Amino acid sequence: MDRLTPVADLATPVPDLVVSGRRLVTPQGVRGGHLLISGGRITAITDTDTAPASAGRLDAGDHYVLPGLVDSHVHFRTPGLTHKEDWEHGSRAAVRGGVTTVMDMPNTVPPTLAPETLLAKARQVAGRSLVDMRFHIGLDPARPELLADLDASVATSAKVFMAGHHTAPTVVRDPAALEKAFAAAAEGGVQLVLHAEDDGLFALLDAWWGEPGSYLEYERRRPRTGGIVAVAKVVELVRRYGTRAHILHLSSAEEADLVCAAQAAGYPVTFEVTGHHLSFTDDDTRRLGARTRLSPSIRGRADQDRLWRALVDGQLTTLGSDHAPHTVAEKTGTVAGSPPGLPGVQELAVAVWTGMRRRRPDE
Ligand code: NCD
Ligand code: ZN
Repeated sequence: MDRLTPVADLATPVPDLVVSGRRLVTPQGVRGGHLLISGGRITAITDTDTAPASAGRLDAGDHYVLPGLVDSHVHFRTPGLTHKEDWEHGSRAAVRGGVTTVMDMPNTVPPTLAPETLLAKARQVAGRSLVDMRFHIGLDPARPELLADLDASVATSAKVFMAGHHTAPTVVRDPAALEKAFAAAAEGGVQLVLHAEDDGLFALLDAWWGEPGSYLEYERRRPRTGGIVAVAKVVELVRRYGTRAHILHLSSAEEADLVCAAQAAGYPVTFEVTGHHLSFTDDDTRRLGARTRLSPSIRGRADQDRLWRALVDGQLTTLGSDHAPHTVAEKTGTVAGSPPGLPGVQELAVAVWTGMRRRRPDE
């Protein structure tokens, strides 16, 4: 038997399951062979002519067999917002999309801004989830110092909303609190994950222009400048405090350039791109209006091309779905009343795979 990737002792008894196929996706590339699974874990990959004896067997044929994906950015709605979706349904969508681990955001009701509330949520969904889970704790704007001694087994990252709306009630508007959060996170070895848009700038535009009458008018109140200004602020705080910062759902070319430049200069700052920003452009938002309302907004074709380049060139660190479902009634109300956010945990892998094949048809 030719063992290609021994992971555990092959002298273990007959595997529970063997998955055979011609397209097993491994760290060394795509290859034919048999995946041996025992106790829920891959124990070896072999390429013998006939499949090894096993309790169960699955023939994948020409289908691709991939490791379960990690979606590092979902907004499941348990507890408090289950009229939008509950954990059972969110996790079922994840499995359908090839995602076997989700990292859930803190903007549930109540928001998980302290270890006790976070642990209560974890207990509430335990046993009901079809996928593994981790949680981002939310930064409490009133108590940024909590991050200095956050227990890494509870959460290794803290979400900071620098701008807010319907489902993001814990916005850090006070620059002093933001600075304290960067200092405390650096002290506690906690990575910040940031919704980096400038709330003050958006508030100014809202006040100046008043209630939007149409979706396009709304978009003028949420320009790319909001993201660029906030990302520049984050880069400056990372430079000052050495905090590890991961910027979520980057939407514009300028932001991508800024973070890449900061990285090249040695700052510990990374970024995420979402399936939404890779899949849609402002052609779609013009056509579909508030149904595609997302925060940060979906931008133009040139921005989308820049985000794809970040993926193809390996500049981004994570791909997230930013799965954030709302009800159809909520999404089709008035422009101002329609909450931003789109589902996507089920579509992420397919959207990225399809887009990648379109962009690199020969591979
Ligand atoms: C998110 C939601 O609905 O929970 N919406 C979104 O547009 N991304 C909240 C957020 O991340 O801002
Ligand atoms: Zn989000």
